[in-house]
Amino acid sequence: MANSLFRTKKVDSILAEGGDGEHASGLKRVLTVKDLTFFGIAAIIGAGSFSSLGEACFKGGPGVVILFIICGIACGFTAFCYSEFASRIPVAGSAYTYAYASFGELFAWIIGWALVMEYSIGNIYVAFSWSDYFTSLMHRLHIHIPDYLACSYLEAKKAVLNGSSNAELIGAWNTAPMIGSLRIILDLPALIINIFITILVYIGIKESRNFSNAMVILKLAVVALVIIVGAAYINTDNWFPANDAGVQSFMPNGFGGVMAAVSGVFFAYIGFDAVSVLAEESKNPQRDLPRGMSWSLIICTGVYILLALVLTGVLNYRQFEGVGDPLAKIFEVKGVAWMQFLVAICAVIAMTSVLLVFQMGQPRIWMSMSRDGLLPPVFQRIHHKFKTPSFATILTGLVVGIPILFTDKSFVLDFTSIATLFAFVLVCGGVLLLPRREKTPGRFNMPFINGQFIYPVIITAAVTFIGIGTDSGNWLIKGLIPAILVAIYIALPALIGSLRKWFYPIATFIVLGIAYSFAWSYFNSLFNFDFSYDPAYINHEMSFMDLAIPKISLIIFWLTCLVLSVITAFKKYSLIPLMGVTTCLYLLTGMTKSNWAWFLGWLALGLVIYFTYGYKKSKLAKN
Ligand code: ALA
Repeated sequence: MANSLFRTKKVDSILAEGGDGEHASGLKRVLTVKDLTFFGIAAIIGAGSFSSLGEACFKGGPGVVILFIICGIACGFTAFCYSEFASRIPVAGSAYTYAYASFGELFAWIIGWALVMEYSIGNIYVAFSWSDYFTSLMHRLHIHIPDYLACSYLEAKKAVLNGSSNAELIGAWNTAPMIGSLRIILDLPALIINIFITILVYIGIKESRNFSNAMVILKLAVVALVIIVGAAYINTDNWFPANDAGVQSFMPNGFGGVMAAVSGVFFAYIGFDAVSVLAEESKNPQRDLPRGMSWSLIICTGVYILLALVLTGVLNYRQFEGVGDPLAKIFEVKGVAWMQFLVAICAVIAMTSVLLVFQMGQPRIWMSMSRDGLLPPVFQRIHHKFKTPSFATILTGLVVGIPILFTDKSFVLDFTSIATLFAFVLVCGGVLLLPRREKTPGRFNMPFINGQFIYPVIITAAVTFIGIGTDSGNWLIKGLIPAILVAIYIALPALIGSLRKWFYPIATFIVLGIAYSFAWSYFNSLFNFDFSYDPAYINHEMSFMDLAIPKISLIIFWLTCLVLSVITAFKKYSLIPLMGVTTCLYLLTGMTKSNWAWFLGWLALGLVIYFTYGYKKSKLAKN
């Protein structure tokens, strides 16, 4: 049983089924590197920048820029790993297919299942945000959509229960028509855009591509305008605002405040990986997929850093509390009416293109899973005329559309980010397990940097740095000792000449152990589980577990780094995927207790489906 759970699919057979250029897959090969970059940008810049950025600025203050940089780096490493996989296995299916070739079937299924979160549940958030901007755009055009038809039921209910001051949500609850005791409250624009996008994806890739390319150009132009016009209103004092204690800081709520924004910030980056699901529709996937991914990521990271600096420079970070349209908000406060209007139009366009890319991605992943026998054959049905996966496209429309009636924004945002990060960790981990190969001209080849020494040094340096940061007293002695140890460790081969094979792993372990024991003393405040003095605990705003989970996940994170350091010392793992695993794991430490609870529940449901269907029907089971 254990063996069959980890049965892997041979790369050759994946290529033969998926179409590597020699084998016809049924999909049209029309996309170039420019199209793929555009697809990437179309997927990346959307609700994250237009909507969730507001709440992120409120939580982290100007320091949220640091989180954008961390997330950009994490996604950069992950993009390298996706590219490596995509150049070896150029078929649709994204991380799912890659996991099948490296980790085996069970992990592949888990990733495929987690990707439903990224592609379908993520689109629910985008559809909600689309609706927010669309409604306010209509409002500016003097077309009023009733409040009860422009928000979700759950959002309105929560607002009433929490005594919120949000007039629209309270208004929606109070004015909604009733059937019996049920209030008719639904986000109609979100539902309608979902139907529109489903039709577009259904009728074909070429039409969708032209539509998407045109929207991306417009979107980038308007975002650039927001940055340029907004820059004129920057007051640099806003970059160092006073916090509740009256202390001026770039991170007014500390680094904890910055990390609290992780779902929203990471969500803004989701999408670069969607490029990889278009492998079967691109002309030269081995060369172009990595390029498309990298370009879209580089461009978007630059855009985000500038946007966050402009936003937090124009207004004080506190002014973003509960703001769902932050880009329009800065111009509203500064009285620049034409920009408000332009931003609203652009946001609607930007989010339409995001919806389109994800709605195209999901059916293609399901198609791959179905080819492997993990889902019923109907998922691979290709429309005879439009050449698109017809059943899977309609089902995606339903999976996005139906929950629009029952969920709300913050729930789907957290859910999407945690599942996507989880999938990224597995993709980077998968690359670690791939056998090294010769460089092939004309294909993407991930540079191999031996992590044997560098990785433990990076981890030790990070621990030391954090230690110094949390306890400035005696930093010279406490910080210097681990640093000197690391220096000796690096210099040893030169000093002693040839060393025995077993020396380095053991030396690594000793150096890390000593560095960690020093660092441990700095972590007292970080790992202190006595919350009896915490106001949030005393006032019953947060339970023990709410406060403990971030600390527990940090402990697990650092222990994982220690274990990875030691294994790397033995196995000479490649540094890029190692850093991908590490940075994505670090971002996962920002997730809350309820995020984990929902996510684990979702995984459990996935496993039930796998063992009752996929495990038995898998093509590998029949071999
Ligand atoms: N990154 C995409 C967005 O922000 C999901 O909408």
